[in-house]
Amino acid sequence: MKRYLPLLALFAALPLQAETPQQILDALVAQAGPASAARGEQLFRAKSTAGKTADACTSCHTDNPKAPGQHVKTHKTIDPLAPVAQKDRFTDPAKVEKWFKRNCNEVLARACTAQEKADFTAYMISVK
Ligand code: HEC
Repeated sequence: MKRYLPLLALFAALPLQAETPQQILDALVAQAGPASAARGEQLFRAKSTAGKTADACTSCHTDNPKAPGQHVKTHKTIDPLAPVAQKDRFTDPAKVEKWFKRNCNEVLARACTAQEKADFTAYMISVK
């Protein structure tokens, strides 16, 4: 037990529930089945006619996942979505879930399916 103590101290220092983007993707794939980054990119770029505050994910996030975005209404800066450009992206399952819920509703006027979330996450991870 004694020799594991430094390791325990290390884990205790990490933020609660921090995961890697791959772990978050794996959990979504477990619900949805295999993810497609290509479909995820389509979702990211698609124009919706049901949109409330915005008609696409790109309205706030820009068409470049590595670029900072800007909220269409509040004009607040939004950090890039791709983990390659913003390292805390897709590391907090509760945060990911919260924003999928809110943003899918803003753009599509419905929740995203587990498949759409898996695809979108796979796309963001695939951006190099
Ligand atoms: C009205 C503006 C707006 C639109 C449109 C929008 N988002 Fe966002 N999104 C935000 C804001 C604001 C945040 C949270 C701020 C931050 O984390 O920098 C966010 C964060 C996220 C996150 C959290 C990622 C993480 O791990 O931190 C995901 C996932 C996401 N958005 C997905 C989407 C998807 C999918 C769409 C299109 C269906 C979309 N967003 C459209 C404003 C928007």
